[in-house]
Amino acid sequence: PTLKHPPSVWTDGTLSLLAQGYAWLPDHMRASADGTVRTRLLGRRTVALRGPEAVAFFYDEQHVRRRAALPDPVLDTLFGQGAVHTLDGLAHRVRKAMFLSLLKDEKGIEALREHVLLRWREAVGRWREEPEESVVLFDETARVLALAVCDWTGVPATEPGGAQLARDCVAMVDGFATAGPRHLRARHARKRQEEALGRLVVRVREQRETAPDGSALDVVARHRDADGALLDPRPAAVELLNIIRPTVAIAWFVTFAAHALHRWPEHRGPLRGDVSGHLATGFAHEVRRFYPFAPFVGGLAARDLQWRGETVPEGTLLLLDLYGQHHDPRLWAHPYRFDPHRYATGESLRDLIPQGGGDAAEGHRCPGEDITVTLLAALVTELAGLDVSVPDQDLTIPLSRMPTLPRSGFRLRLA
Ligand code: HEM
Repeated sequence: PTLKHPPSVWTDGTLSLLAQGYAWLPDHMRASADGTVRTRLLGRRTVALRGPEAVAFFYDEQHVRRRAALPDPVLDTLFGQGAVHTLDGLAHRVRKAMFLSLLKDEKGIEALREHVLLRWREAVGRWREEPEESVVLFDETARVLALAVCDWTGVPATEPGGAQLARDCVAMVDGFATAGPRHLRARHARKRQEEALGRLVVRVREQRETAPDGSALDVVARHRDADGALLDPRPAAVELLNIIRPTVAIAWFVTFAAHALHRWPEHRGPLRGDVSGHLATGFAHEVRRFYPFAPFVGGLAARDLQWRGETVPEGTLLLLDLYGQHHDPRLWAHPYRFDPHRYATGESLRDLIPQGGGDAAEGHRCPGEDITVTLLAALVTELAGLDVSVPDQDLTIPLSRMPTLPRSGFRLRLA
C-alpha cells in the first residue's frame, strides 16, 4: 500500500536538512523503525534508503532517472546546467564514455600524479623560505591541485599561482547547500569559470589556441554527443569544470587526512616506511569512509517501484545515504575507529561508497575515484614525510555545515 504511512511523516525537511547538515539523514534513520526515511524536500515526496540492498536498488538504471532530479541551486553552483550528472540512458552513456576515457586511463592518472607532486613540492619549497610562518593546508592544497589539473587538462593557468581558479572551484563546492553569501559566491564563481572556459573551447575549435593531443581540453572540445553534435561552448565548459572542480575538491580529503595524522600520529612512522604504497592507499580509503563529504546521492523514481513491499510512486525523490552507510555498525566493525588496515582484503571496499555505488561505466558512479585515491594517497605520503608542528587552532569539524572542514582549514608550520 502506498499510504502505509500517515501524511504527517511527509512534512518538508528542507530547512532541517540545511540546519542539521550531515546529522540530518542519520538522525532520521535512527528514528525510523524500518531503516527507510520518508519526508519531503523542496516540497517533493522523498524516500531515503541505506545499505547494500539499497545501493543495488538505487543503481538499477530501470529504477532511477536523473533528469530534473537536481534542483537549480545545486546545478547553478556545484555541477553546472546540462552536466553529465543530469543525463539518462544513451545520452548519459555517450557523455560518460568521454569522462571514462580521460579519467580511468592508468598512464593519464600517473601523469596527473606527477603534476601534483611537482606543484606540491614547489609549494613546500615556498613554505621553507618562511619557516616561521604557518600555512593553511586546505588553501595551499586547493592551489596545488588547481595548478596541477590545469597542467594536465591543457587549460592555461592564467593568473599567478592558479589562485583565482582554486578559489572559484572551492566556492562552487562550498556554496551549493546554503542560502546567502556563500551561495552567491558559488554562482559568481561558476559563471566566471564557465565563461572563461567556454571562450577557451571556441578558441581551440578555431585553432587560435592549441590543446595538447588527448588532453581533456582537446577531448571535450572535439566530443560529439549521442546526437552527433559538438557540445555548445557553455556545456563544454561545464564538463571541463566537472573534471577541474572535483580534482581541486580533493583538498577536502587531504585536509581531513592531515587531521587524522594529527589525531592518530602512530600512523606516521608506518606511512614513512610504506614502500609498497598499500598503507597510504588504505589510509586514503579510510579518510573517504570516516570523514563527512558527499552526504547522499539522489534521483527520481522512474516509475512506480516496490521497495520492501511498499510502493514508491513515480517521481518520488530517492536518496541513498552515503555518509550514514559508512558509520553503520552492521557494515563496519567499530565504525568510529580510524583504521587504515580495514581494506587489507579488499572486501570492505564493496560497501565503501563515498563517490557513489554500482558501476562507473553503466551508471552515475564517480569516474574520478581512481584519481581521488591515487592523489590522496600520494599527498598522505608527502604529509607523513614532513616534520611539522600544528599551532593552537580550532580543529573542530562542524557536522551542521555542508560541506564541512576543520574550522581552521588546518594550519601547520614546518618544524
Ligand atoms: C560523480 C563524489 C572526485 C568527476 C560523483 C558522485 C559523487 C562523487 C557522490 C555522484 C554519484 C551518483 O550520482 O550516483 C566525489 C568525491 C570526490 C570526487 C567525494 C572527491 C573529491 C572526482 C574527481 C573527478 C570527478 C577527481 C574528475 C576528475 C565526477 C563526474 C561525476 C561524478 C564527472 C558524474 C558522473 C555521472 O553522472 O555519471 N562524484 N567525486 N569526481 N564525479 Fe566525483
